[in-house]
Amino acid sequence: MLCGEDMFFTLDRWYRSEFLFENVSIAVFARNDFSEEKLSRHAETLRREKGATVRLIATDPVVISSTGLREMLKNGAGGDYLSDGVYSYILKNRLYGVRPQPDKLWRLVKPWISENRMLHVEGCREEAVKLARRWGADVLDAENAAVLHDLTKGMAPNEQLILCKKYGKIIRNIEKEDHNVLHAFTGAEIAGALFGVSDEVCSAIRWHTTGKADMTLLEKIIWLADYIEPSRSFPGIEEVRRLAYCDIDGAMTLALRMSLDNLERRGIKPYGATFEALAFLTDGGEKKI
Ligand SMILES: [Fe+2]
Ligand SMILES: [Fe+2]
Repeated sequence: MLCGEDMFFTLDRWYRSEFLFENVSIAVFARNDFSEEKLSRHAETLRREKGATVRLIATDPVVISSTGLREMLKNGAGGDYLSDGVYSYILKNRLYGVRPQPDKLWRLVKPWISENRMLHVEGCREEAVKLARRWGADVLDAENAAVLHDLTKGMAPNEQLILCKKYGKIIRNIEKEDHNVLHAFTGAEIAGALFGVSDEVCSAIRWHTTGKADMTLLEKIIWLADYIEPSRSFPGIEEVRRLAYCDIDGAMTLALRMSLDNLERRGIKPYGATFEALAFLTDGGEKKI
């Protein structure tokens, strides 16, 4: 049984500690600058008095306690103390109230993202953080949503659906028909199932392509970050960029109109929620469909 030195000094007071001493070998590693001599002395006492098998592990001290680490995990930090496998397990099972740490999340997500999409996702992350700071949204949520928003975009539709089915998520037929819409829906489900992000973050991912009526601040930020991130370039984008930092609803209205025009020019039937998003902003919620 591996244990840190502070736990080691209290082991003999544990409930049924004699069972432990009879059945496991104790391996102690230093966590701070307790002297080796003190550890050796206590090890000797346990051997002599309890018949324990104790080994001291020579290692660089790990200056973190499990309690401290659990606290860090709640605040989007601490991932650097853990291997990718352990961190993924904690995220997937939503242990300790964990909130993903964006740079650690990015490392886990990178294999899912194609080379030519990297720049877009990085740009979206940068833009989402700036927008969240500007509008007083939760920066950690915005950053994580941006990192995950195109998680499934590179996957074939049937692969996306198989994954969703695996995690018990049902995707409606209407979302299945349009690849652009589908990746947002499956991305949201998989982000929640595998990376433990909150429902708010999942919702921002779900609506990042189409928008919808009555969007939350986080949903608007991710929608806009996706639209105006630095690697994007098309006529009219500069005005949306300008508005995004002084009138976020104005930016949404303009960008939704531009987006609908663009779909119409290309002969693509827009998803109904995009009309609803625009109608909500311009007519106070009256649907125009
Ligand atoms: Fe997308
Ligand atoms: Fe995107």
